[in-house]
Amino acid sequence: MKGVILCGGLGTRLRPITYSIPKQLIPISNRPIIYYILDSLVKAKVNEIGIVINDNEDFFKEVLKGYEDKEIKFKFIQQSQPLGLADAVSVSEDFVKDEDFIVVIGDNYYELDLENLISDFYDTSSNCSILLHEVDEPYNYGIAEVKEGQILDVEEKPRNPKTNLAITGIYIFDKNIFKACKEIGPSWRGEYEITDGIKWLLNNSYKVTYNISNSLWMDLGTYNELLHVNQHLLSKVNPNNKGLIDEKSKIVGSISIGDNSKIFNSIIRGPAIIGSNTIIENSYIGPYTSIMNNVKIIDSQIENSIVLDKCSILKISNIIDSSIIERNSTIVSNNSYRKANTFILGKDSNLILY
Ligand code: TTP
Repeated sequence: MKGVILCGGLGTRLRPITYSIPKQLIPISNRPIIYYILDSLVKAKVNEIGIVINDNEDFFKEVLKGYEDKEIKFKFIQQSQPLGLADAVSVSEDFVKDEDFIVVIGDNYYELDLENLISDFYDTSSNCSILLHEVDEPYNYGIAEVKEGQILDVEEKPRNPKTNLAITGIYIFDKNIFKACKEIGPSWRGEYEITDGIKWLLNNSYKVTYNISNSLWMDLGTYNELLHVNQHLLSKVNPNNKGLIDEKSKIVGSISIGDNSKIFNSIIRGPAIIGSNTIIENSYIGPYTSIMNNVKIIDSQIENSIVLDKCSILKISNIIDSSIIERNSTIVSNNSYRKANTFILGKDSNLILY
């Protein structure tokens, strides 16, 4: 079975970060989001994978080179514009050909066992199988109505949901989904919805089944969700030190420190992860902080945050909290007598001062 990961989209809710990095490549616990999806696919022995993108092919290529399993064959599939998930599935037809395939949306975090979904799809001779998950607020999700192992209907964000079974964004299809996607029109929000494609399959007597998962599944569409999954992953970080910690520093809890990083006269309270070639000096790094490579944090305090490559944080004595800092950013306080702030911010930046 082939796999398709949907990595187009505008990522409007994660602007301004998504102006310079596609959502699926943002690292959480120092690994790009897409790596966690690849982990699940590789575990299920899916290793021929199409990546649907609107742009940024070079960026994706570069990041995917770093994925640990070198056996996977990647194929980039261009979707001209983010016209909706059904359109994103449609454009993968040349890659998939006549095979069955598993589709995963690229901006969710899953700890799921896909093997059962795949084997049940074959055992029940289904045309489509959907992974469902029970949720507390079904009106915020695509919801499925089910009976005796089959899906009866699917509905996007229903006002009066008939079940609490949300559609997770993992689907298995056979080639009939391409027929369905050609037949449907855009929804009221102007997108070609995959739920409409699935409704078409149901209305045309194709067999649509489901599995219900109890494992962790989280959307990563907003900053709070990114920080939440970062916390979850850091709570499992293995202590590991490949760097240098001087005798004046204090390390508490689980910390992973990468090659050639140096910690001087600082307190690091885990769980936290620090990449390679990073320098932390006279600083406090608090719980649930992920710091990537070639970062400098000097005379500063930070916790519950994500700092990407090559950032400098200098002389920031108020704690930086719940923040996401994109590559090459500098935050500096010059502690001068005159108390003033200088900001050079990109479009859609979000700065909160206390
Ligand atoms: P969404 O979260 O629905 O859309 P988005 O990524 O544009 O984000 P926002 O709502 O903040 O603007 O997309 C879910 C996943 O599907 C995500 O990984 C992007 C991908 N996608 C495509 O590949 N093609 C598309 O046409 C759309 C709409 C999304």
